Amino acid sequence: MTHFLDIHKTDPAALRSIIDNAAAMKRARNGRPRGMADDDTPLAGHMVALIFEKPSTRTRISFDVGVRQMGGETMVLSGKDMQLGHGETIADTARVLSRYVDLIMIRTFEEQTLLEMAEYSDVPVINGLTDRSHPCQIMADVLTYEEHRGPIAGKKVVWSGDGNNVCASFIHAAGQFGFDLTFTGPQTLDPEQVFVDAARARGVKVEIERDPARAVEGADLVVTDTWVSMHDPQSARERRHNQLRPYQVNAALMARAKPDALFMHCLPAHRDDEATSEVMDGPHSVIWDEAENRLHAQKAILRWCLGM
Ligand code: CP
Ligand code: NVA
Repeated sequence: MTHFLDIHKTDPAALRSIIDNAAAMKRARNGRPRGMADDDTPLAGHMVALIFEKPSTRTRISFDVGVRQMGGETMVLSGKDMQLGHGETIADTARVLSRYVDLIMIRTFEEQTLLEMAEYSDVPVINGLTDRSHPCQIMADVLTYEEHRGPIAGKKVVWSGDGNNVCASFIHAAGQFGFDLTFTGPQTLDPEQVFVDAARARGVKVEIERDPARAVEGADLVVTDTWVSMHDPQSARERRHNQLRPYQVNAALMARAKPDALFMHCLPAHRDDEATSEVMDGPHSVIWDEAENRLHAQKAILRWCLGM
């Protein structure tokens, strides 16, 4: 079974083929990401379940559109409307869904839910975000970096802010794609040490630098994300904002990166908190390409999972 659960759990050659295939599928659409079916429709006759236990705009719509462009059909399901949200086990849900659909994409809270779904499913499972990681996002980010600046291997990526789920997938990707990653943020919000150690064990430079100005020196790419994620309690909001304010990506910080550095944010953003509008809408920013590339990257992930 070919699941797409995390970047560090996927073979580097497969990751490379997914990125290359995504770029090729994007080119084949001749600059028109939206609407109409691709010329090539390998998912014809296939049904994909998209399960959301958390809100989503990009993941939901890009998966839905991507499946349809490739000739397949989707069912967008809210976890709380399913028996899953009312006590049916994940294992039983996975066994039943496997009798109806050809692939399951799930966005959930605990990583364990995703892992159990994959364990008991007879069809591929894709991680559409958990509290711990967001691999589809970073596949789109690698695609975006490479289409603007060429190979990401050997480049310096700086993550400024919360060492959250999206940051974790960046660290996984550093190990697999061979780029250096510097995390800058408060110690209390450091990324999980186990992820840092695993990337370092692969010979990749993963650094932790508390001073954001020093961290971004020589950066090829600066990335940030919301200061309060969907799984964080709202009660932690004020404390997080206070701790993270020094790590805001603003024009002064971007000016310390390389002159041709890119800026990314997975979105949704809280403008003028984690990043200023000046940066988001400024010359370094590639956030709209990044959002578009969710579509192309995920189409390639779907094809890879289904062996097409
Ligand atoms: N970046 C991202 O996953 O966005 P959504 O929460 O809108 O899906
Ligand atoms: N870190 C954010 C990402 C949203 C796409 C969250 O988990 O809420």
